[in-house]
Amino acid sequence: MKTRMTELFGIKHPIMLAGMAFVSLPEVVAAVSNAGGLGMFNSVANTPDQMRDIIKQIKSLTDKPFGINVTLLFPNAKENAEVALEEKAPILNYALGKGDWLIKAAHEYGGKVISTVATERHAHRAELDGADALVVTGLEAAAHGGEPTSLVLIPLIASMVDIPIIAAGGFCDGKGLAAALALGADGISMGTRFMLTQESVVHESIKEVGLRATAEDTMRSDKIDGLPGRFWMNKAAIEMAQGKVSIAKAIASAWQIRKTLDVPFYKLLLSGLRQRGVQDLARQAISVDFLERLNDPGDDVNSVFLPLGQVAGRINDIPSCQDVVEETVSEAEQVIKVMQGKVTA
Ligand SMILES: Cc1cc2nc3c(=O)[nH]c(=O)nc-3n(C[C@H](O)[C@H](O)[C@H](O)COP(=O)(O)O)c2cc1C
Repeated sequence: MKTRMTELFGIKHPIMLAGMAFVSLPEVVAAVSNAGGLGMFNSVANTPDQMRDIIKQIKSLTDKPFGINVTLLFPNAKENAEVALEEKAPILNYALGKGDWLIKAAHEYGGKVISTVATERHAHRAELDGADALVVTGLEAAAHGGEPTSLVLIPLIASMVDIPIIAAGGFCDGKGLAAALALGADGISMGTRFMLTQESVVHESIKEVGLRATAEDTMRSDKIDGLPGRFWMNKAAIEMAQGKVSIAKAIASAWQIRKTLDVPFYKLLLSGLRQRGVQDLARQAISVDFLERLNDPGDDVNSVFLPLGQVAGRINDIPSCQDVVEETVSEAEQVIKVMQGKVTA
């Protein structure tokens, strides 16, 4: 299926793997790219040294276009993006920060840059900065979607900008892809759907949670990682949303993630404090620590923070990434045909 999105990135189908921390890892990235979509690696939990090997690993698994996602709010993000630029990653996707420098550097070698936005103001800014495309994320999304629903936000931003739009938040199949195209988008990005696939390395018990969840089993709060975000409504998320966090717990979590990110403790604290208050910094440290357990939650899934979209309520299987991409496209083509017959004269 060809759209402006496929033309821009040189891919077969207008479907992107959302950059998900601890989920969008090389195997899933390559599986989506090999299926004709756009695989997107999430670099939140990596050090700049690891990035070089990861990019090599992705290139060994696929010869198709892929991207590197950087969440600019995080301590290693700028350094990780610099490695991706040095390695001439075909596509970069940034979120939660200003990416003008990154766009300029990627354009110098012909790389393309996608900016993830959830407000009109950020969409306008990203287009002015020279972004090649936008991921526009609505309220239904796992983690940090916008305040308006996708149904409102996507046509709103599509009418404002000239660059291609990739709709995110609430998409899991061909009905969603057809709807996104109707709303003015040029393709879709899916998170929850690709987390629940055979190639996804999240623990089986987490996949079980995703399969069982109804559309009402998620909650949104700005008290979980410090930004408004949607998570599975379990004990850990409810408690975090209700109360203040203990600074002792925050320091313990920051100490723990310091090892994962290989960042000096003081740098972690300073980078958080520069942008946010102590409570938000504490929440961020705790949430990364809890998120890290997605691949090994032990026997207590209730202690994990699981970003989960409302669309989990519509997902009942664990297919391969290739099946997701192909079935989404063929269903969308079918829906578009059926729609033409739905309108009576
Ligand atoms: C387990 C998981 C982890 C995620 N981690 C991140 C992240 O680190 N950075 C980010 O920008 N979005 C993250 N997201 C959000 C996705 O990138 C995407 O915006 C969202 O999943 C789209 O909504 P959907 O789940 O309805 O498809 C995550 C989503 C999930 C399910």
